Amino acid sequence: MHQTNTVRLNPNVASIPASEREIIWSAMEGRDDLANLASGNPELAMPPSVVSRMQDYLQEGHARYSAYYGFDALRDQIAAKMMTDWGVAAHPRDELIVTNGVQEGLYIVMRTILQPGDEVIIPSPHYGTYYQNTLACGAKPVLVPLKESEGFLPDPEKIAAAVTPKSRAIVFCNPNNPLGVVWPQASLEAIADVAIRHNLLVLVDEIYRDYADLPPVSMASLPEMGSRTFSFGGFSKSHIMMGLRIGFVTGPAPTMTEVKKMHYCVALCPSILGQIAAQAALNCPEEELAPVRRHFKEMLGFLYEGVARLPGVSCVPPGGGFYVFPNFSEIEADSMALAVRLIEEAGVVTLPGSEFGQLGQGYLRLSVCAVEADVREGLHRLESFVTARVR
Ligand SMILES: Cc1ncc(COP(=O)(O)O)c(C=O)c1O
Repeated sequence: MHQTNTVRLNPNVASIPASEREIIWSAMEGRDDLANLASGNPELAMPPSVVSRMQDYLQEGHARYSAYYGFDALRDQIAAKMMTDWGVAAHPRDELIVTNGVQEGLYIVMRTILQPGDEVIIPSPHYGTYYQNTLACGAKPVLVPLKESEGFLPDPEKIAAAVTPKSRAIVFCNPNNPLGVVWPQASLEAIADVAIRHNLLVLVDEIYRDYADLPPVSMASLPEMGSRTFSFGGFSKSHIMMGLRIGFVTGPAPTMTEVKKMHYCVALCPSILGQIAAQAALNCPEEELAPVRRHFKEMLGFLYEGVARLPGVSCVPPGGGFYVFPNFSEIEADSMALAVRLIEEAGVVTLPGSEFGQLGQGYLRLSVCAVEADVREGLHRLESFVTARVR
């Protein structure tokens, strides 16, 4: 039922644009014959040792609140992993908290550091939450284009040119959703240089780092960057634990003291079952994780090669994660119209690039999160659709 809103709203929240994904969902309605290349929600099961630890825990029958910022033992484990894998030294009590997913971490950090009128530089196409959180805080998103012709690598001069006296932070993910690319050390160093020169904070979401062909360099590990970088990580993708809602954030101690207040307001504590699972995830034997990483790497390679072969379509090779971001503008300039036609005429679900900002117009985001047969079938249907039109 549609009702007119008579409640006086926070204009910052009201300014967040509604997602157009509902157009996709309504095109999908009543169809059980679709192949899904749109999802960011992998269909693989969690590692068995995580499942069995959760089952044991549930037998105990408790679901109490935990320590507000996460179990001490879990924070110690995460800090140790960050030291060895990310090259980032984060004090487990003063500089690290466990959150209900990266999503909560992003929100509470942005709420803590941003004031109305501040500007946030977002290389774009971008993960929507960076933009939405910026608006929720009354701040202004400043999009800096990432160009396909430049391999979707950031151009430090364009980032520097976007800086104004109101600029407060730069936010991005590496590996990238939706672009599929992994920015190399040189790009990160160039962004660090801009951040240091202009006294900006940097928020780096590394939720896909376990799936990079080459482990990305963490911004916080670069000289002089530890004191101005917030690093976000989580278990949703690395251990297929999306619904358990566990992530973490590290940042400089004085600011993290304030971030903790926001965390308490928003979440009180992270999900206890999620934390039990996260501890098991960090002890997970390599034999359980290696096949998962191999699966996604192979499927991503398969999807990329198939898409790159399509006539009239170009695609930057992915460096990891779950996604490719091919350019379909020669076939259809309006990516939402194309995504709807693909559902209706070809039975394949994709996400329009415009869901990742206007700079994504003309592109589609394709993913390998569905079961293998679906990904293969989805690519096959895409091929048939494109070749029938281009011929
Ligand atoms: C780039 C990026 N960051 C954050 C998230 C959300 O992570 P979490 O499940 O830890 O909240 C996603 C989910 O798709 C994502 O793609």
